[in-house]
Amino acid sequence: MTKVLVTGGAGYIGSHACKALAAAGYEPVAFDNLSTGWRDAVQFGPFEEGDLRDAESISEVVRKHSPAAIMHFASLAEVGQSMEDPALYWHTNVLGSLNLLQAAVDHGVPKFIFSSTCATYGDHDRVLLDENTPQRPINAYGASKLAVEQMLANFSGRFGFSYTIFRYFNVAGADASGEIGEFHDPETHLIPLAIDAATGRRPTLTIFGRDYPTPDGTCVRDYVHVSDLVDAHVAGLEYLEAGNPSNVFNLGTGHGFSVQQVVDVVANETGNNTPAKDGPRRAGDCAALVSGSARAGEVLGWSPDRSTLPQMVRDAMRWHAGKGYSG
Ligand code: UFG
Repeated sequence: MTKVLVTGGAGYIGSHACKALAAAGYEPVAFDNLSTGWRDAVQFGPFEEGDLRDAESISEVVRKHSPAAIMHFASLAEVGQSMEDPALYWHTNVLGSLNLLQAAVDHGVPKFIFSSTCATYGDHDRVLLDENTPQRPINAYGASKLAVEQMLANFSGRFGFSYTIFRYFNVAGADASGEIGEFHDPETHLIPLAIDAATGRRPTLTIFGRDYPTPDGTCVRDYVHVSDLVDAHVAGLEYLEAGNPSNVFNLGTGHGFSVQQVVDVVANETGNNTPAKDGPRRAGDCAALVSGSARAGEVLGWSPDRSTLPQMVRDAMRWHAGKGYSG
């Protein structure tokens, strides 16, 4: 079986990618330091525990498995935290990626798939952002991901491997089986927090800002189902294996929903009011981020069919009603 090294393979998106790769006939090797990932989430192939900041550790794993491709998910990904501790983000996301890329080059891995973000775009005076939108991140998280995008272009130009960059909009939902899902401790993301508030697991949700230049004053985001998102990664791998050139793809639906609209959908799906109170803006938040591109559909044949807000909320609810992970 063709091996694919999946960094962050014990995390939310990485574990779903491992499942999709296994279903497509690959052997996913999960590499994770378990700082935010869970050993229980590694269910679809071998596990290698290690930290990308340790160059020798990742080099040894790449040498040992000699994967046909690397999917690189391992990173810190919280906008608020990145504003409080930017050094942590540059260290983990940028240095970690540098060590990984060096290992990929040293051991001749020919394909690389990188998990980037719409946070690299920053604020613009239009809502729809396509892949040619100037990248002007306004938080350290987005800046760290942009640095890695540039690193990839530099390394690929010099060493000749091919890559795809996926710029995610807001990832939500969980695998339909209920066996893997989003499990952060502490949780900071809107949909799981709103579900917890609506189901009484936390007293209230705080809405971060009602004075944005959006229709209802709350931030607008483009939500994409995690299972659709990882399908694009498998399609991106097959695209590179077919000899196509490096490329960049937004992964979003093109439809924006405000924080208030998400709260309302959660209330509707749970049948409960979502207790919510207004709070100040969160540092680093853009007003609106919505994908304005059909490139992933046109080039990869990607179609985010599961990415309706009610479906994502329902799948997240099913997962949250289960046991989660214990280790
Ligand atoms: N929000 C609240 N209250 C909360 C949590 C979130 O109002 O308790 C708001 C945020 O201010 C934001 C929206 O809900 O406007 C979504 O926030 P999330 O924290 O769920 O997601 P982010 O938009 O901050 O970040 C996510 C991913 C990033 C990715 C980014 C792109 O975590 O990796 O989407 O927008 F880059």
